[in-house]
Amino acid sequence: MSPLRIITSGESHGRALIGVIEGIPSGLSLSSQDIDKDLRRRQAAYGRGERMAIESDHADIISGVRWGKTIGSPISIIIENNDWVNWQKAMSISEDYEGSIKAVTRPRPGHADLTGAIKYNHKDIRNVLERSSARETAIRVAVGAVAKRFLSEFNIRIGSYVTQIGVFRTQNPESGVDMADEELLIETYEKAEESPVRCPDKEASLLMLKGIDEAKGKGDSLGGIFEVAVTGMPPGLGSYTQYDRRLNARLAMAVMGIQAIKGVEIGLGFEMAKHFGSEVMDEIFYVTKGTDNNSELPNTNLSDVQQFFYRKTNNAGGIEGGMSNGMPIILRAAMKPIPTLRRPLQSVDIVTKEPFEAAYERSDVCAVPAAAVIAEAMTAIVIADAFMEKFGCDNIEEIRRNYQAYIEYLKSF
Ligand SMILES: Cc1cc2nc3c(=O)[nH]c(=O)nc-3n(C[C@H](O)[C@H](O)[C@H](O)COP(=O)(O)O)c2cc1C
Repeated sequence: MSPLRIITSGESHGRALIGVIEGIPSGLSLSSQDIDKDLRRRQAAYGRGERMAIESDHADIISGVRWGKTIGSPISIIIENNDWVNWQKAMSISEDYEGSIKAVTRPRPGHADLTGAIKYNHKDIRNVLERSSARETAIRVAVGAVAKRFLSEFNIRIGSYVTQIGVFRTQNPESGVDMADEELLIETYEKAEESPVRCPDKEASLLMLKGIDEAKGKGDSLGGIFEVAVTGMPPGLGSYTQYDRRLNARLAMAVMGIQAIKGVEIGLGFEMAKHFGSEVMDEIFYVTKGTDNNSELPNTNLSDVQQFFYRKTNNAGGIEGGMSNGMPIILRAAMKPIPTLRRPLQSVDIVTKEPFEAAYERSDVCAVPAAAVIAEAMTAIVIADAFMEKFGCDNIEEIRRNYQAYIEYLKSF
C-alpha cells in the first residue's frame, strides 16, 4: 500500500471542498499559511473568469495537527465555497428544495456533461458538472501543499512555469532552460511568479497576455504547455521492478488526472524521438572532488558529496528506469483550450433531443498558469509518496535519520 493516500470530495457550488491526506508523518510543522499561499497562486493568474473574484480560498485544517505539528493521524482540510450562500437551495442535501432551480439539460461539448449524465443516469447535468468542474483542484492544491511542506524538510523543491499559450511560446519550449542546472531551474520558476501568465520570458509573457485578450474578444479560449521542475531529488525513488512502481508512470497518471490535461512528457519527451541515441542519452561521469577538474559539475543536491557519479546533461528529465537518478525532474504537460465559450458550439438537449448552440458567459479564457500550480501539487504528492516508501513514514526525525544514512551510503558507493 502506498504510504500516502489522498481523497477529495465536494461540489463546485456545494458548501465546501474537503481533502483527507493520510500518511504524513508526525512531527512536521504545518499551518494554514503553508497552504494558502499556493491556493492564491492557483487563483491569481491572468485569463481566469469571474469565479476567481468570488472565491478567495482559505484552507482550514481540522484534524491531524496539534499545536502546530502533525501527529501522524489523517489530516483533513476544508475550503469553504464563498459562493455557497447563493446556492444553498440549488445544492441542498435535503430533498425539501428539489426542483428549486431549473435542471441543466444542455451538455457542453468538451466536458463530462453528456457521458456523465448517461453513465450515472442523470436528467440534470448539474449532478455531473458540479464534480467534474476544475473547482475541485483547489483542494488538490491544498493537499499538495502539505506534501510540499514535507519535502521541503529534505530540500526538495517544486516549481513550475508556462512555456506556451496558444501559439505564443518561449524561445525553446522543449527545454525552456538547461534541465541539468538546479539553480537555473529555481531561478526560472521564481521569475515566472512575477509574470501574470507565470511565464519566465518577459517578451513571450506579453505576447501570451495579448493572445488571451484576443481570444477573449472573440468569445474563444486557449490552452497551452507548462513545465514542472523538482530540485533536490535523491537518486532511487520509484522502481523499475513493476510498471506501477515507475516514478514516471506515477507522475504521468497524477498530472493526466488534472482536468483538461491531454499529454505529459518527461525530460526531452516527444522531442527525443527525433534524435539519434548518441545525441540524447545522458552520459555518466565520476568525480572525486579536489582531485579532478570539477568545472563541469552540475548544480545538484549531491554537490556537497565528495565522490559521486554525475551527468552533464538531463535529457532524461531526472528519471531513468522508472527511478529518480538524482538530476532535477522535469515534467511537461499540455492543456487543451477551455471548452466553455461565449462563441456558440453545436450540441443537443438531453430531454428534448433538440439541437441548440451551447454558449455560456462565465468561464475562464485560459487556465494554463493555474494548471501548472495544480500539477506542482500532484507532483508533490507522488514524490512525497515515493520518498516515504524509501525512507519511512511514521516520524519526521526517523525519516531524517534514514535519509542521512542513505546520503552517507551514496558517498561510499
Ligand atoms: C484550473 C482549471 C480551470 C478550468 N476552468 C474552466 C472553466 O472556467 N470553464 C470550462 O469550461 N472549463 C474549465 N476547465 C477545463 C475543464 O475542467 C475540462 O476541460 C473538463 O473537465 C473536460 O476536460 P477533460 O476531458 O480533460 O476532463 C478548467 C480546467 C482547469 C485545470
